[in-house]
Parts: sequence; structure tokens; C-alpha cells
Amino acid sequence: MGIDFPEGFLFGSATSAYQIEGAAAEDGKEDSIWDVFCRVPGAIVNGEDGTLACDHYHRYAEDAKLLADLGMSTYRFSVSWPRVLDSDGAVIAKGMDFYSRLVDELLANDVAPWLTLYHWDLPAALPGGWKNRDTAKRFVDYAVAVQEHLGDRVRTWTTLNEPWCSSFLSYAAGVHAPGETDPASSIAAAHHLLLAHGWTVQALRQADPTASLGITLNFTPAIPATRSDADSDVARRVDGTANRFFTDPIFTGAYPADVLSDLGELWPSGLVQDDDLAAISAPIDVLGVNYYTTNMFRAASPDEATDCATPHIAAPDAVQVLRDLPLTEMGWEVDPGGLRDLLTWLHTTYTGPAGTALVITENGAAFDDHADADGFVSDVDRVDYLRAHLGAVHEAIDAGGDVRGYLAWSLMDNFEWSYGYSKRFGVVRVDEQLRRIPKASALWYGEVARTGHVD
Ligand code: NOJ
Repeated sequence: MGIDFPEGFLFGSATSAYQIEGAAAEDGKEDSIWDVFCRVPGAIVNGEDGTLACDHYHRYAEDAKLLADLGMSTYRFSVSWPRVLDSDGAVIAKGMDFYSRLVDELLANDVAPWLTLYHWDLPAALPGGWKNRDTAKRFVDYAVAVQEHLGDRVRTWTTLNEPWCSSFLSYAAGVHAPGETDPASSIAAAHHLLLAHGWTVQALRQADPTASLGITLNFTPAIPATRSDADSDVARRVDGTANRFFTDPIFTGAYPADVLSDLGELWPSGLVQDDDLAAISAPIDVLGVNYYTTNMFRAASPDEATDCATPHIAAPDAVQVLRDLPLTEMGWEVDPGGLRDLLTWLHTTYTGPAGTALVITENGAAFDDHADADGFVSDVDRVDYLRAHLGAVHEAIDAGGDVRGYLAWSLMDNFEWSYGYSKRFGVVRVDEQLRRIPKASALWYGEVARTGHVD
């Protein structure tokens, strides 16, 4: 019994630079906006930061071997922009060499490198961050420099990870670096991120037509609590900025009309220039899907107080309604059926017609792990989570979806942004001495990766 994935389906796991590397000021690395944000009192649980993290900068060879031992065929990691380019735009040789050695080590262990160019650690020195159109131009220079050094060995490139987080969560809700709370700035940031993506796809494609190029978006499907007009409308508005704000310009070359109308006066005038949307909709090979949960919403009643600094800038009246589902340690509902429906919707609406493949570039869960006397974590809840979501992926493939791979988040426990180290997403435990100890989920998932079979 159980299910079998098609021959060639990719299994792997993912991390990001700031969450695991440490060495925050080593070998010429400059500050990113996360180094700066972590110094803001109260920004991060327990005042933690990524200064040491998992010390992957010094333990990358051990980590590459760990991936191979676990049977992972693919490893998605990110490059830290301020580690490889200084504030004058010159290459920092030692920083670039770190990624070159990491890639070599992965290849020596038969693990295919999957490189994300931007996982949120913007150089702090860039004036205005993503509010500034010039940052998108600087991003292309950075991307081209990384391709020049690693493009002979890295075949799969993701421009951005979760631009919704780098825009609406960072510039409207203030929860992520740089911690601003201005809705109009968040729209500017989102557009400039998409522009950086589009220009980079054009530049990398021109330099190497054989590389696989894509972007990773986080999808949180929004469903209405009831069939009332008010609840349906609030769910539509959340979905508009959370999901379609990104998929529509990338796949159809236009921002969704309802989102433009909902945002109305908030939309900065002159933001979108001629040819921007043509660049943003440059064809991509892979759409990376990060899925953790689905959210149900109802509309707040007129006298109900709502959160003023919300990432849902077109739906400040959205109130999440919890369903009768298990919760992870993040308080996120476990809803694997939502992943199946999401993949089917994406394939039918966007990626299928465009001939773009889907890969789940992140899926996983934080749970309240307990280590036994030997340091081993028997995380049955995480195994159940992964099994159920892999089942949902398989159902989407059965329904005709072109889904080519699944990367578990995360290879190891790491710095969970504003939650610090309090939330553990790893299939591998990282203990106080920074030892890597595979959990039951790593052993189970490794078997899946080796056989393509889910029990
Ligand atoms: C998505 C982000 O890409 C990743 O950095 C984060 O740790 C996970 N979600 C879990 O929240």
C-alpha cells in the first residue's frame, strides 16, 4: 500500500543563509537589514539573532554530507547578498568563495544545488531598501555576479523567496525587516521586488539559456467563513494581495483589476513604468510553491476593533476564523487538502498554460520537540505532517498537475525570524553544542527520498 512518486521526482530539503550560516561579520560580510533589525529591542523573541545561528558557514562540509546521508537529491539554499558584494558593488572574494566551496561539496556528495538569490537579507547599505526602484537594478548586478562565479555548476536558480513577506509583512505589518508600517511603501516594495525578479530572469537567461529559472511564492489560500457577501469579499481581498498580486503579473503580465481597484489611492502614482510588466512576465521554468496552511476569514463587524498594522492592506477588516483542525507550534492549521487544491488551481490557472513546472520549495512544520537522553527526537507529529502533505502532492499529480519535486522545510532547526530559535522546523535537530542529530522525521523522509515511496 502507500503511494509511489513518478520516476525522477525530486526530493530534497531547504534552508536560507541568514537562518543557518552565522558568521554575520566574517570575511568582509557587511550588515543585512536582518542584522540591523535584530538589534531593535523587542523585534525578535528573546532578543536573539543570526550571529551564530547553526554555524553552517564553518560546518558546510558536514552539512553537505548530512544531506547525502539522508538521501536528499536536491538542496535549496540561499546566497547572502552582503556576504558576496560590498556596499560599492565589488565582489567580496572570501564570501563568494564560501558558496563556491559549498557548491563543490554538494556536487561531490551527489546533491544538486538549488540556489535562491534572495531570502530576505538585503544589504542594509542600500538606500530606501525595496522602496527604491534602484534596488531592483542593484539586484540584477548582484545576480549576474553570482552567476559568473557559480553558474558553471548551479543549474537551478530562484530569484526571490516569498516576495509577499519582503513587501507586505516587512513594510506594512512591520513584523519583518526593515520593520516599517506604511501600506503605500509595501506596494512600492512589492512592485520593485517583482521588477528585480523579471530583470534578473532576462539577464540570467541571456547569459545562460540552459539554466532553469524561477521564483518562489508563498501561498496562503484564503477561504470565506460563510457564503455571505461580506465574508466572500473579505476572503477575495486577502487572496488578492497575498496570492494573485504576484501570480497575475508574472503569468499574465498585468496586476489583477480587483486588487488595483481595492488598493485605489494607496497605489503610488508613477510606480509602474513602461515595459515593467513585460519584464515581470518574462517566462520562467519553475514556480516554487511554499505552502504551510490555508486561512479562513470573516469580515469584522463595523464596531469591531481590527489590527491596524496588518499585511492584508486591502482587507484591514479581515478576521481569521480557526477551524476544527490540529495546529502546529506556529498556531498554523494543518490542512493538507489545501495544498492539493492550491497546486491544482495554480496548474489550471497559471503554470499549465505557460508550460511552467511546479515544485514545492517549502513545506513543513514547527512542533514542540522533546529530545530523549540520547538527544533523539521522536517527532511523530512532523512525520504525520509530511506524510499527509506528500499525499496531497500526489493527489495533485494524479489530477494532472505538473509537479516535479518537494523540498522539506527545513533541513535543520534554525533562526525562525521574529520568533528567534523558539520554533523548530528542522527534520534534523541542532542542539546547544550545534550538533546535528537527525530526528525520526529525517529518517522517515530519507527513506521516502531514496525510494519514492510513502507508506
Ligand atoms: C517561509 C520562509 O521562506 C522560511 O524562511 C521560514 O523559516 C518558513 N516559512 C517557516 O516560517
